[in-house]
Amino acid sequence: MFYPEEIVQEVRSRADIVDVIGQYVNLKKKGANYFGLCPFHGEKTASFSVNPRMQIFHCFGCGKGGDVIKFTMEYENLTFPEAIKKIADDVGYKLPEVSETAEQKRDNDLRTRLLDINKRAAVYFYNSLRDPKGQTGMSYFRKRELNDDTLRLWGLGYADQSRDGLYRYLKGSGFDDNILRESGLISFSERGVYDKFFNRVMFPIMDANNRVIGFGGRVLGDGEPKYLNSPETRLFDKSRNLFGLCYARKSRKKFFILCEGYMDVIQLHQAGFSNAVASLGTALTEQQCRLLKRYVDDILLTYDSDGAGINAAKRAMPMLRAVGINTKVINMKPYKDPDEFIKAMGIEAFQDRIDNAQNSFLWLIDVLKQDYDLSDPAGMTQYTNEVASRLSDIKEPLERENYIKAVAREQMIDYGSLRKLVNHMGDIKERNQSPLNEHIYTHTSFKEKPDKKQKKETAIQRSEKQLITWLQEKPELIPKVRDYILPEDLSDVTMQKVLIMVYKETPVNEILDTFRDSDDDYEKVAAMFNGNLLSDDTDEYEFKRGLLDVIRNIKLTSLNTKIQNEVDPHKLTELFRQQSDLQNLEL
Ligand code: UTP
Ligand code: MN
Repeated sequence: MFYPEEIVQEVRSRADIVDVIGQYVNLKKKGANYFGLCPFHGEKTASFSVNPRMQIFHCFGCGKGGDVIKFTMEYENLTFPEAIKKIADDVGYKLPEVSETAEQKRDNDLRTRLLDINKRAAVYFYNSLRDPKGQTGMSYFRKRELNDDTLRLWGLGYADQSRDGLYRYLKGSGFDDNILRESGLISFSERGVYDKFFNRVMFPIMDANNRVIGFGGRVLGDGEPKYLNSPETRLFDKSRNLFGLCYARKSRKKFFILCEGYMDVIQLHQAGFSNAVASLGTALTEQQCRLLKRYVDDILLTYDSDGAGINAAKRAMPMLRAVGINTKVINMKPYKDPDEFIKAMGIEAFQDRIDNAQNSFLWLIDVLKQDYDLSDPAGMTQYTNEVASRLSDIKEPLERENYIKAVAREQMIDYGSLRKLVNHMGDIKERNQSPLNEHIYTHTSFKEKPDKKQKKETAIQRSEKQLITWLQEKPELIPKVRDYILPEDLSDVTMQKVLIMVYKETPVNEILDTFRDSDDDYEKVAAMFNGNLLSDDTDEYEFKRGLLDVIRNIKLTSLNTKIQNEVDPHKLTELFRQQSDLQNLEL
């Protein structure tokens, strides 16, 4: 969906940034601004500021900043158009219909109808579970220790034994065979038309916005397949959704717990771990990793402690690492999965396992043991070589050293010899430089997140920012300053663009809009407008002197650069004249 600029401005003008942010952050007025604890990074002192006059926010701690739309995007994890929609809904503004192409319209209609079918099917299964005929389903869930709230929260249901109950129900609601075929819930074959799911307990699969897009159905006892899932449809893309994400994203936890099964997620949420998610009956995909990264930087893996689970974890780690997510592993032994663990050991024991989650590199070293016969000296040597090889992939000396120590201790390998072996292998690898040897399993500490390094600001950059914010606050100065400072006098393109707009008295929000496509510039500009405010009691005389200094600084620097690059004597003379004029500058 694309909203034209007027609509964006209209929506923004109807929402007050202090009200919107105030719903999530406890704001206190201090001077002209409001301050609170930043919702985007953990902090104890309030460095998050909201400027009601300019309708922008900025965090002096983590650097995030922008307008009310940006805040909504960041806080709710929404795209730009989604944020517009949310704000419009919240302030009761009806967005105009935006025209779509015929093809978009057909596709949207199809998706809307498929959503409708899935929702109705979910209600149908939900009611069947509560019907006398759903008795077997209900007792199955009871046996698995799910309570009423949980059944409701996840919309759990039951597909009974009639082979075409859902088909008849949906037909009765007016859907034709073509769309029912596309829904994946009904099988059409020569032998007849049947419900895909029967005699199974039903798990609705919801997208991040709580809309049912498909189902998983579990047999009540032993039987194949254990879980039957909706096929992929125009609505249901298994590689782009995660079970439980609709709730986990609202958990506001710093990390997610990634598990294998629907039951695990549900059981974890029931136990209060509302940040659990699972993939949808397939191995974790790249898209899912990117989706996860929108919400968290850290993930605890709780894959089954059997061979398949270990392989899944081994596969997931480098994929998550590749999108910048740190992983740790929760040990669930002697149980198979979180569902069984929680039921047997309880909530506190699981929390304990979370607190003691293992660094994924050390976990991997441990797991590798299974591939070797350690009772045989030859096997032990091979294992030690493998371990040393992986350690030697760690390039950072201190980090390598720490890992060597930890591995030697945990695996009871002699520290001195291991260290020698690792460094020896490291040297060989260095010589044969293979770029493939990236150590993707390390860097798993939750703390060492590479913060966006803020480049040190030069004095001239500070002056430029000062000038721009002052002009924005006191537009009456513009006609005077414009005679001295041209946009090209500023040292960087972003600032030049901003100055051009400030000269035209463009509102801050509209200035910010033009940088929407570049996160870095956007935040830089938002920070600037929030950072250099004049206090109400600034002395007029002091201010004038400050302004003159700033203008002189900027112009002098700009002239110096020009003088250095100029060869034409006439032009040089003119530049020198301008330079000396600066001494007598007055406003
Ligand atoms: P598991 O076999 O580990 O089952 O499959 P589970 O989650 O422990 O289920 P319960 O506790 O026996 O009920 C993990 C996940 O793999 C997918 C499902 O998403 C399941 O939750 N799966 C498994 C299938 O899609 N089909 C299957 O036949 C089996
Ligand atoms: Mn299980």
